[in-house]
Amino acid sequence: MIEWTRRRFFLATAIGACAAGGRRLFGKTPARDVPPPDSALQNVATKARPIIISSANGVAHLDDGMAVLKSGGDTLDAALAVVTKVEDDPEDDSVGYGGLPNEEGVVELDASVMHGPTRRAGAVASVHNIKNPSLVAKAVMNKTNHVFIVGEGARRFAVDEGFQEMNLLTDRSRLAWLAWKATSSENWRPGLDSPEWKEKIAELLDTPERQAWAAHIEQVVAYPPTGTINCLAVNAKGEISGTTTTSGLAWKIPGRVGDSPVIGAGLFVDGDVGGGGSTGRGEENIKISGGHTIVEMMRQGKSPKDACLEALDRVVRNYAIDKSRLKKFHITFYALNKDGEHGSASLWAKGLDGKPHHYAVHDGVKAQLVECAGYFDAVGGDY
Ligand code: GLY
Repeated sequence: MIEWTRRRFFLATAIGACAAGGRRLFGKTPARDVPPPDSALQNVATKARPIIISSANGVAHLDDGMAVLKSGGDTLDAALAVVTKVEDDPEDDSVGYGGLPNEEGVVELDASVMHGPTRRAGAVASVHNIKNPSLVAKAVMNKTNHVFIVGEGARRFAVDEGFQEMNLLTDRSRLAWLAWKATSSENWRPGLDSPEWKEKIAELLDTPERQAWAAHIEQVVAYPPTGTINCLAVNAKGEISGTTTTSGLAWKIPGRVGDSPVIGAGLFVDGDVGGGGSTGRGEENIKISGGHTIVEMMRQGKSPKDACLEALDRVVRNYAIDKSRLKKFHITFYALNKDGEHGSASLWAKGLDGKPHHYAVHDGVKAQLVECAGYFDAVGGDY
């Protein structure tokens, strides 16, 4: 309680005054303007091919994936055309370049790919200095007889494959990390009785641009996000592939790996059935093998949306439906079958902003946001 009070005190004093506007939930709100949700599409398992879906933060780039599908390109390349744009985008701090770092200020990225037509997979975890782990995961699949390479081995593999190394920490993500450190330990800020206390913090926010980040930084310090992007694509022939990529839980212990690179959890594709993926708190998904569960449910005849709800049911059962603990996190599942039917369900119907969660769908005509089904018809996901 004392720690929480200090955190709130620091935030309210240091950056809360700059909090006008700009709030968004990481990995949930697209960085660019997008069309409003189309009610005609909501939760309707329409059959259409080709089709490509992603978590909401991919909506601005689904056109790129659809272009690959329409030109006869590979389904995995279509999904990668979407997620690599998000990995490259410093504004999305749940994925790739600009992703929020671990507790030591190092950006650690995780990603997986599954290629339905050839029934292959690749994955990497805890990769430093390489901004497109999804492409490294594809290289693991294509160039090795392994499926999963982690840490320093993954970085060296990427460099050997020609990936450029770079500093993935942006000015904004570095500031957010410093703010988190300052709220987490008194060692990382001048004492409350110091005359320098406010001045030092002001130094962190000394330009209008930085002040514009303040509300966002406040949000991610108080509620460390587990953003992520998942993308699934099916072509006109019914071939399907997918990928999931993330910077993982903000401020994580170095080496922590979430669900995104875990085949069967953050991603699973079976070319005979379809694919499933996830965003949100990876620990909960790993425990129920969510991606695999979704595909098996669809194999047994469930709609994509109901398959996602079944995965959430297993998450909820792990907490004996104890909402006081369940409300401490958020998780969303996504599903696409090889006929082009799609669905998504979120643990909580609404986010911290009180708005419904969405996923992104390109049906061959246009990209749009579609409302996720809610397992609990309530606001939740405290961190
Ligand atoms: N879902 C991303 C993570 O938990 O790392």
